[in-house]
Amino acid sequence: MDRRTFMSAAAVGLAGSWLTRYGPALRGQASDAQVEILVNEPIGTIAPDIYGHFIEHLGGVIYDGIWVGEGSPVPNVRGIRKALVDELQKIKPPVIRWPGGCFADSYDWRDGIGPAVSRPRRTDFWADTPPSHKRPPTDGPQRWDPNTFGTREFIRFCRLAGASPYIAANVRSLPAKDFYQWVEYCNAPAGATTLSDMRAAAGDVEPFNVQYWGVGNEPWGCGGNFTPEEYATEFRRYTAWVPRFGVPIKYIAAGPNGGDREWTTRFFRTLTARGQGALNSVYGWALHYYCGSTGDRNSVRFSTDEWYDLLVRADRMESLITQHWSAMAESDPKHRVKLIVDEWGAWHAGAADMPPNYLWAYPGSLRDALVAALTLDTFNRHADKVVMANVAQMINTIHSLFIAHEDKFAVTPNFHVFEMYAAHQGGQALRTVFSAPSIAFAREGRAQALWGLGGSASLTDKVLTVTVVNTHATDSRDCSIVLKGATVREGSATVLTSTDLTAHNSFDRPAALVPRESAVAVRSGELRHIFPAASVTRLRLTLA
Ligand code: AHR
Repeated sequence: MDRRTFMSAAAVGLAGSWLTRYGPALRGQASDAQVEILVNEPIGTIAPDIYGHFIEHLGGVIYDGIWVGEGSPVPNVRGIRKALVDELQKIKPPVIRWPGGCFADSYDWRDGIGPAVSRPRRTDFWADTPPSHKRPPTDGPQRWDPNTFGTREFIRFCRLAGASPYIAANVRSLPAKDFYQWVEYCNAPAGATTLSDMRAAAGDVEPFNVQYWGVGNEPWGCGGNFTPEEYATEFRRYTAWVPRFGVPIKYIAAGPNGGDREWTTRFFRTLTARGQGALNSVYGWALHYYCGSTGDRNSVRFSTDEWYDLLVRADRMESLITQHWSAMAESDPKHRVKLIVDEWGAWHAGAADMPPNYLWAYPGSLRDALVAALTLDTFNRHADKVVMANVAQMINTIHSLFIAHEDKFAVTPNFHVFEMYAAHQGGQALRTVFSAPSIAFAREGRAQALWGLGGSASLTDKVLTVTVVNTHATDSRDCSIVLKGATVREGSATVLTSTDLTAHNSFDRPAALVPRESAVAVRSGELRHIFPAASVTRLRLTLA
């Protein structure tokens, strides 16, 4: 077995295919894998914000997905889709990022305040994006933004969901003055300024107290085509002397795309050129990483090799975190600034049965659930580094947890992973060692390898939550679970799996893929568990 405390996919690849050589002979034997949980080796507290979300004025995310309107026949809470609010409450969403994405750097926040009837209609940033499933775009709110969903509707949505708001401000097309006036509109007490009185007149006397403010989005691309030096200068300027109104504002700097380590190095070098004090204004450095798709990008049609291929691509998150963390250390050796991953997920083509303007709307399959699970496990294992992450996006696009159209609504397999993993929020992440056969597969005719079993563990009081991903498409793993430094009294398991790798939910079959509960055998403190093929499992173990 390869024994790992989590190595990169590349490193595991070097281990070769253990399974191909020895796997068949071992099937049926006593134990073919082991998980060690080192209870006395805490990593750090898992920031609940790691389980955060992202919504953008893109396709069917805001209009129809979230906002159906107060007079809609679709059940709603003051204009917001009720089924969505009900499901969100089950997963404890800690934070929601809005209004983009690329849309953020084209958005004028003044368009989305005041009475809805007098708000202007604008061209959406994504208006000219061709639908990925090759049907002609149609007119509608996905192209022309009616601005019915603005700041107060966003705050309403966050409050209904029980989440903190995270606003990404426009750096490409609005001056710094607009940034601090948006902060003032949100956070100044009623009666203090003309802007806070406008908020109060619209019905929100209490300030919104928004803490998280993103300074632009993807400044290396749609956010302004800046160099890292230019963006560092803009970041300093936008965050200088913004009135706080007693709110502990946390600025989030828009970081690199995937593995662009140089962006990180150069931003921090410029930011700190006039002293380390500048680091105090950065709460988080926000990385984006989409692991993409495979083959013809169909989310529910792929080969077994493509199953593994996507999981390997997703597993790259591990090395991205360590790579950018070390680049940050060159200018910030004490790591005052933490990492944020405010866009992540797989990204397939849109499904043909979703409206053509709902860009990249698809149901997601069991494969995407494994992407979600192994990514969240990665964040848990780096709880000392990562303080927030936002899956892209919440509904009707990319790695979504929900699909909706008019009165139709369904949760995707990703939702179930978030529901299972919510138990990690605020827990103490513990070091783990997973040992299991690695798996061989081919990408474009070249041999590749993927680890067989991975996961993370956290402790909250006497409850140990262990989440485990079995990546093998056909083989279950009979695993002994060894706790170092504690004894288990009892346990239960929740598992999401199917013999069909492409299993997914749809409007017609919303419960085609749901988790199941089972018991965990504990004998004299010893634990054995069979992790089914192609599965995500959450163990809840009560310690003696
Ligand atoms: O999530 C979709 C888009 O992907 C976002 O708007 C942008 O930030 C990223 O490139």
